[in-house]
Amino acid sequence: MPAGGSFKSVFGRAPEFVSRAPGRINLIGEHVDYLDGCVMPIAIEKAITIHFARSRSSRSRILPDGFGLDEPVSFDPNNYFRQGPEEAQWLNYVFGVMAGYQNEGLVIPTFDALITSDLPAGAGLSSSAALEMAVAMLIEQLSGCQKNVVERALICQKAEHEWAGVPCGIMDQFASGAGKVGQVLHLDCRNLSYDYVPLPERISVLTADTQVKHALGDGEYRQRRESCEQAAEILGIQSFRDATIEQVEAARERLGELLYLRARHVVGEMHRVESFADALRNDQVDRIAKLMRKSHESLRDDFEVSCEELDVLVEAAYEFGTDKGLIGSRMTGGGFGGSTVSLVKREAADALKDHLEKSFQEKFGRALNCFITSPENGAHCESL
Ligand code: GLA
Repeated sequence: MPAGGSFKSVFGRAPEFVSRAPGRINLIGEHVDYLDGCVMPIAIEKAITIHFARSRSSRSRILPDGFGLDEPVSFDPNNYFRQGPEEAQWLNYVFGVMAGYQNEGLVIPTFDALITSDLPAGAGLSSSAALEMAVAMLIEQLSGCQKNVVERALICQKAEHEWAGVPCGIMDQFASGAGKVGQVLHLDCRNLSYDYVPLPERISVLTADTQVKHALGDGEYRQRRESCEQAAEILGIQSFRDATIEQVEAARERLGELLYLRARHVVGEMHRVESFADALRNDQVDRIAKLMRKSHESLRDDFEVSCEELDVLVEAAYEFGTDKGLIGSRMTGGGFGGSTVSLVKREAADALKDHLEKSFQEKFGRALNCFITSPENGAHCESL
């Protein structure tokens, strides 16, 4: 049943509004957003959608489709609590964003809402940021408040830090909010200024979701962040944006091997982002191929956030070959599972997809979730 119809069967009336916030795929700039680096993600067409309507009750009701719940969860918008590990974790994203607006003095009217999604969770495509953004749009629609894209992304990031306990950077929320059709976002996470670089129409984006979810993902993410903070302290720098690779090389002994490798990834990746933006603007596909490959190797060897499935897919993409239309391939997102992203000439996208699916099936004996996408617009809300 279409979601508007489901809303009616759950809440007994038609929805008044729909908010929709997309997932994201990062083309380059991995594990640098929380260290003042620049990143280049796109928003994709897969999204979290919320159909909603104002309520006359003193409680709000919300139902996520596909979570096996028969009844909506009902809560008092002025009295709700962080959900513990055994409870409905998804609610923390909703509550966290509500709390962000309420802390600024906003009164959020009660509502009924149905959440649907075609964005796979745990695929490294930012389904949690998309949920936060879709909730932010709902709140702004109902309360009449209007934040700009930067303020909204910051509220959503804070929700993730304080309510979901993930010390993430700002990239995912920003990409879900500020994505633009046909364009790659080029975001400076140091001062949150941004511009866009067009992705030529003849280039397709192929995403391959390994469906591997690393159980230690969050803990490992936090560790990476902490290691980088330690490295910055030893290097005596305020921000990695001020560091050069020579500085990192010169401090190798003082850093010790592990922190040296982490720092080498961060400084190298920050430079790769700028080269990538330049290469994309100037249509230099060979340079793009090298930068994406180097980014993946650095994430695999120096930052150690890849996994076998991701490595096999990236190798399979390069084995398919740039002569057949591949432009570049790498893991995308936080890592420890999740997805790879490949840029490929449009006419070769289906053949690359077949090749990746076949290679994955042969190696791991299961199907790969692979789809072709392109840059889409960020979060928005409409009256129905
Ligand atoms: C996750 C985080 C982002 C970013 C990436 C790695 O997606 O939410 O903030 O750090 O990992 O680039």
